Amino acid sequence: MNTTAAPVSPLAPIFAQLSAMEIRDAQAPMLPRECYTSDAFFAFEQDAVFARSWLCVGRAEQIPKPGDYLAARIAGEQLLVVRNQNNEINAFSAVCQHRGQIITCTSGHARSFRCPLHFWSYDLNGHLQGAPRMGDPATLQQLRSTIRLPTIRIELWHGFIFINLDENAAALAPSLTKLEPFWANYEAADLVGVPPVPAEKVLPWNWKLHYENFTDAYHPEFVHQGTHDFAPSNHPDGGVTFTPMSDTDNAIVRTVPMLKSDGGMMRDGWGEAAAFPAIATLAPEQRKRVTFAMIPPGMTLMFAPNVIAYQLITAVSATGTMAANDRVTGGGWLLPRSTLDLPDFAQRSAQVLEGASKIWAQDLPINLAMQEGKNSRYKPTGIYGPLEKTLVQFNAWLLHRYLAALPAA
Ligand code: FES
Ligand SMILES: [Fe+2]
Repeated sequence: MNTTAAPVSPLAPIFAQLSAMEIRDAQAPMLPRECYTSDAFFAFEQDAVFARSWLCVGRAEQIPKPGDYLAARIAGEQLLVVRNQNNEINAFSAVCQHRGQIITCTSGHARSFRCPLHFWSYDLNGHLQGAPRMGDPATLQQLRSTIRLPTIRIELWHGFIFINLDENAAALAPSLTKLEPFWANYEAADLVGVPPVPAEKVLPWNWKLHYENFTDAYHPEFVHQGTHDFAPSNHPDGGVTFTPMSDTDNAIVRTVPMLKSDGGMMRDGWGEAAAFPAIATLAPEQRKRVTFAMIPPGMTLMFAPNVIAYQLITAVSATGTMAANDRVTGGGWLLPRSTLDLPDFAQRSAQVLEGASKIWAQDLPINLAMQEGKNSRYKPTGIYGPLEKTLVQFNAWLLHRYLAALPAA
């Protein structure tokens, strides 16, 4: 008789805790601290979350011409997002189907893709074109008719390119319908994308803490004194409002008022004398509020009276995150062409960056200390107040994905 017991996964205690947690009304309690610190849990999350979710890799106007392509990396997979001769955008694995060499990790323009190892080449639709010294023409023809770079799900949403490694994932757009009212009147202003400057620095905290800091309506009054008072969560005329969440939503949304119309980011943070002019096509109520939306696990969006600002977020390890946009590296804006054409646009951008980096400088020590708190044996089970609705919504979004991927008991 074989008496060898199956090895117990180091994640078993975390999985047991997650299994015991409940999602009610699209809200869930605080996750175990190991979800923010454990390398093994991060590996689980790569499959449970990142390999099954829609992730933004850029904007369609970043690859305007046939042959333009973006390189992207999701859940450890190197991918290519390519505009073909018919102006369609497709996504492929960048793994050569000969012996598995990565074809390229950089973005650019090409008429075809050539693997650097034995020069197999692929056309803009991912079909094998050439394979030198593989035999007679009939053999090559046979290879060409059967070999193609694996295709990846792709969806365009308001000009953003999203990809998903999960062939069976539900479509993206229906999961983001709650954001449609916030898009109203923006695109009539002939918006142009200014992509974020890519991040080079790893921020030393878990990716979920990065989102929690972004989405937390409770902290600005305390952490962001002097930079965020113009867009308060608490205000006698009504403060933050939370958009209701359903279990199939991929967006978590809050909106705060501004003290005066047409304000925005200026060199001291949020203020009346915004660096970018207000967008003329917006309705009066849109010119007096800011909406913060997260689209986990890779993106945030912010609708302000003068800009839509977006951040792209990459989880690199249990305690490492990369983020690119105006708070960290610059750019990440959708702006009316008329704003980009202003002769002093560079100075205005610099003011936005200065104000945003003052807010960011206040968040940095908070995120560092929160990551340290997650390591503590004294970490609380967590108490949420009325201003923390987006956090319990995020917990539910995560828990849905974790529970769906747990190994069968
Ligand atoms: S591995 Fe790509 S051509 Fe050989
Ligand atoms: Fe903050």
